[in-house]
Amino acid sequence: MVKGTTGVLGIIGNPVAHSISPLLHNMLADLTGLDLVYVPFPVEKGEVQKAVEGAYALHIAGMNVTVPHKSDVISALVDIDPLAEHIGAVNTLVRSAGGYKGYNTDILGLKRELEEEEIPLQGENVILLGSGGAARAIAFLCAAERAKHIYILNRTFEKAQDIASAVNQYYGAQIASAHLLKDYGMLQGQDYIAIQTTSVGLYPNVNEAPITDEAFYQKIKAGVDIIYNPAKTHFMKLLENAGGRAYNGLKMLLYQGVSAFELWNDIQIGSADTTAVYEAMKRELQIV
Ligand code: ATR
Repeated sequence: MVKGTTGVLGIIGNPVAHSISPLLHNMLADLTGLDLVYVPFPVEKGEVQKAVEGAYALHIAGMNVTVPHKSDVISALVDIDPLAEHIGAVNTLVRSAGGYKGYNTDILGLKRELEEEEIPLQGENVILLGSGGAARAIAFLCAAERAKHIYILNRTFEKAQDIASAVNQYYGAQIASAHLLKDYGMLQGQDYIAIQTTSVGLYPNVNEAPITDEAFYQKIKAGVDIIYNPAKTHFMKLLENAGGRAYNGLKMLLYQGVSAFELWNDIQIGSADTTAVYEAMKRELQIV
């Protein structure tokens, strides 16, 4: 029940009506007994600065930011987490003195999924498929977690090169390299970790994968496809058929929300509550 004391959280983006975040955060508020409500706020492109200032004036306790505002919102912040700054994208605003501080819990979400599924990045050779916004963030995560090398494979070489250069420049070492997707044959040896970030295989194109050659998958010991619909992508099936472990992106989505809720409220969400939210998300998204 919304009362005079109820704190307000929300998400700004356009569109926001399809977002799973209200379900996730209102459920967390219920489970933790915190007096909070989470609502969607559609915000037009070009209106982010005003929206963030208004939210602060309205004492909005915290916000998520989604497409198309994840980069534009940065100029409206008073502080930013260093990892989010280097990724160049913020999805979570935490109230602080004089304004909001920005974080990227998308990437914290993937970090937690990888930890939970026992896929360490440290000292590993990582194959990153794709070079969009998600891939850029993940390349920085891999570098921050001290991966041995990050092979960025993309259909458009220049976009892979942009990400590799940004990571190498930030870390002052040749930790990432760019390659054309079709050149996967140059990957030597085995035991790679793979992270699939292209849109290939997304519902309804469930029988597609960015690479279909079995020989590629035999090089990979474990991988995550950040797609969660379908729950088992063609990439995951190919990887499992080749003997590797494969996971979808639903836990990344879960933990980006859990991490944001924890930041806003300075608490830790326990595993029983996390599992309850995960099950509710699967029901809502009709994922089996
Ligand atoms: P996000 O921000 O979610 O990462 P994005 O910026 O739309 O998404 O990036 C989509 C990624 O999927 C890109 O790497 C894109 O490759 P290009 O950079 O060459 O466009 C990749 N992608 C989309 N369709 C593809 C296809 N049919 N084959 C290979 N890669 C594809």
